[in-house]
Amino acid sequence: MTKVLVSDPIDQAGIDILSQVAQVDQRTGLSEEELIGIIGEYDGLMIRSGTQVTAAVIAAASRLKIIGRAGVGVDNVDVPAATQRGVLVVNSPEGNTIAAAEHALAMMLTLSRHIPQAHGGMRAGKWDRKKYVGNELYKKTLGVVGLGKIGSHVARVAQAMGMEVVAYDPFIAADRAQRMQVKLLELDELFRTADYVTLHIPRTKDTENLVNAELLRTMKPTARIVNCARGGVVDEAAIAEAINNGVIAGAGLDVFAREPLAEDSPLRAVERGLVLTPHLGASTEEAQENVAIDVAEQIRDVLLGLPARSAVNIPGLSAEIMERLKPHLQLAETVGLLVSQLAGGHVKEMELRLQGEFASHPSQPLVIAALKGLLSAGLGDSINFVNASLEAKARGIQVLEVKDESSRDFAGGSLQITTRGDQGSRSVTGAVFADGDLRITSIDAFPVNVTPSSHMLFTRHRDMPGIIGHLGSLLGEHNVNIASMQVGRKIVRGDAVMVLSIDDPIPAELLKTITAIEGIQEAHPVTL
Ligand code: NAD
Ligand code: MLT
Repeated sequence: MTKVLVSDPIDQAGIDILSQVAQVDQRTGLSEEELIGIIGEYDGLMIRSGTQVTAAVIAAASRLKIIGRAGVGVDNVDVPAATQRGVLVVNSPEGNTIAAAEHALAMMLTLSRHIPQAHGGMRAGKWDRKKYVGNELYKKTLGVVGLGKIGSHVARVAQAMGMEVVAYDPFIAADRAQRMQVKLLELDELFRTADYVTLHIPRTKDTENLVNAELLRTMKPTARIVNCARGGVVDEAAIAEAINNGVIAGAGLDVFAREPLAEDSPLRAVERGLVLTPHLGASTEEAQENVAIDVAEQIRDVLLGLPARSAVNIPGLSAEIMERLKPHLQLAETVGLLVSQLAGGHVKEMELRLQGEFASHPSQPLVIAALKGLLSAGLGDSINFVNASLEAKARGIQVLEVKDESSRDFAGGSLQITTRGDQGSRSVTGAVFADGDLRITSIDAFPVNVTPSSHMLFTRHRDMPGIIGHLGSLLGEHNVNIASMQVGRKIVRGDAVMVLSIDDPIPAELLKTITAIEGIQEAHPVTL
């Protein structure tokens, strides 16, 4: 029975989708120990930001195939540990973009018009009109730090409200900013000139405490700062001090370095100019439904053996590419699996040569598929698209890629994998024919035309009379049925290869007898 654990509150729409393929257990508020205690029963885990999926949790998750984060940030998941264990991590990169952007805009308006304080006064029976004179956003300068999905939406709405928008984002193209009519500035200039600064960056080692006391001191005393991105990108103590000392006018914070925010945090003691919300950026009904559906669909698909749309830990392998390149990926994996069984021993180098039309496809997915095939002969099901590159690296396998668009061997191009290792070099080429059929088209440069099948036998032998008959009778005597047979040779009575598709695996004893036949130099059973 397939089982999925949902360990944070998730919209019912997501639970309904998961229930189509699995038993769904909803258990929120688990401690790390409790999660470690039960995670071994589950094939899938669905979370929001509350659950910490640590390396220890992943180590205990012996059946886990996928972790789905119903939101953007995956900083509560140990992604490298998941990758190493071959566990796919998916998220919902766009499901809550609008919600988070609107929360940042709401913070700017709330801060400018002192709405929480005025409301508090009303609740206390007061009518303070003079105390809460605010500011307009119109014609003010907004500095957006991180002009990605959320930052861009904030920028567009702010422009519609008459704000001038400037931005700092070292990773976006200047022409994109230009098209959005947003001027790109350096970080220090943005902080010096902006009336409002809004942060929309991930938390990384470069962005940790990006907004510190020193940067805050460069801001206008009338400026306000909003963080609806990630805790830890602003120094919270420095913000509290800057507001208390009049260095800046205020701040709106939705996210914190440690969540929930400590009861004795200095932020809670700031009396005016600060608005705090408990990580509500994505908390709209619409966003929660969007992210729950987006992630639940991906978990369902992966559990059904289909690709995921937004995999965090298989770069370059989107669902669209997996679908478009399906036969090509299958060929790369098959040829990788085949060549590894011919190579034997420790492979030190894998060269992937993409020829003709194959060279026009992105090579990274094909490299991953080839490595998956190459490693799975020895490592079985523990190798998948998620961890193939990492495992190859850990085994010291060097990967070389060669693209040769000029090759015209087959209409759809071909793919060749050559391995080099302690038992020499092996090379297998394959092609995808027009009907989508996979073919092995050469082995160690001997031309063949073979459809890969579950059980095969490869020999290297001398092309001489009687050898094929001898092998055929031997297999017959041992009740091994031959489905097809092909010989590839370059010169008459020279070296040759033989490829047999057989209905049954070759027993070890029989293999010894085959290798003893005069003229047979080597024989390799292959299972695909
Ligand atoms: P995104 O990937 O679309 O955009 C992030 C942008 O930050 C990118 O353009 C990137 O180039 C830029 N960036 C990265 N490092 C930078 C640096 N050192 N300096 C300046 N820019 C840098 O992501 P998004 O969907 O727009 O999300 C932005 C942030 O908001 C993320 O941290 C996400 O986790 C967070 N988020 C929070 C909530 C919430 O509930 N408060 C909801 C959704 C998203
Ligand atoms: C996110 O990264 O998507 C946000 O932190 C929202 C959340 O899931 O709480």
